[in-house]
Amino acid sequence: MKKVIVSGIQPTGEMHIGNYLGAVKNWVELQADPQFDRYFFIPDWHSMTIDYEPGTKQRIIRNLVRDLLALGIDPKKSTLFIQSHIPEHTELFWTLMTLTPMSELEKMTQFKDKALKNAENINAGLFTYPVLMAADILMYKAHINPVGEDQVQHVELARVLAKKFNNKFGQTFPEPQSMLTNVPRIMSLLESDKKMSKSGGDKSCLYVSDSPTVISEKIRKAVTDEQGVQNLLGLAKLFDPTGLTYKHLNKDFAGGTLKNVELKDTLAELISTYFADFRARKEEIDDKMVDEVIAEGCARAREMAQRTMEDVRSKTGIR
Ligand code: TRP
Repeated sequence: MKKVIVSGIQPTGEMHIGNYLGAVKNWVELQADPQFDRYFFIPDWHSMTIDYEPGTKQRIIRNLVRDLLALGIDPKKSTLFIQSHIPEHTELFWTLMTLTPMSELEKMTQFKDKALKNAENINAGLFTYPVLMAADILMYKAHINPVGEDQVQHVELARVLAKKFNNKFGQTFPEPQSMLTNVPRIMSLLESDKKMSKSGGDKSCLYVSDSPTVISEKIRKAVTDEQGVQNLLGLAKLFDPTGLTYKHLNKDFAGGTLKNVELKDTLAELISTYFADFRARKEEIDDKMVDEVIAEGCARAREMAQRTMEDVRSKTGIR
């Protein structure tokens, strides 16, 4: 039997290179492996737990679909869908909520972090978010969840809930496991000790869709304290497919002859080149294609979701 992979990327704005390296790059690589069935999706309901502008959400979601396609997610190899198009997720969420001890949610470190950062909007959705994530995972009977470090605790909850459900209602769900994507932390361009994040502002992030001009402008303004230079060198390594340019940079750096502007311009060139094909492919994806991909992917996901929910309803005695 094939192993099932499920992972999601939230629609919260432009995709930055940290999001790409931490998630999507790995998803694309996993597509080459025939031993997996893959579900990749956009958890739009999750993204409602943080304040947002309703008028921008659809644009962000559709732009993210274009990004995913242009970066290499192939709808023939992966089921690509949008969470809210599969209403069964909220139904399974509710069932799992009734199995979730409050204490499990109270220990979630991401909730504590987010509550600190969003003190004026600590909503119940933010608190129960890991249960919705467990529903996303168990719905497709996932074995493996490629996620970043910050999500490991949530996948652990999905395991706990799979076990609880199985014990109470009979064997239904495999126990999912995180697959940690091994990426170095990508740091902000402007604050060399902070993680790259949209909350640091557009100038602190490199977006995958940035034009070469924008990339070069942003990198030109990057801080060059000791840590900042290390960050830029680290990026050069990550975005240099042959490693040759990085080797030169690193040699000059070690010899003390590397000028910051040279490092910056070389890095800008590397990153622009790295995403050149992506930018061209993205241009070719029109609204019609986005609609078709969403319709097809959601239909496929929904079929599986309906099958799971019929089983869940009957096992729980609810219908
Ligand atoms: N919470 C995840 C994040 O912010 C996104 C996500 C939602 C997810 N549901 C998921 C990831 C299920 C893996 C599996 O990154």
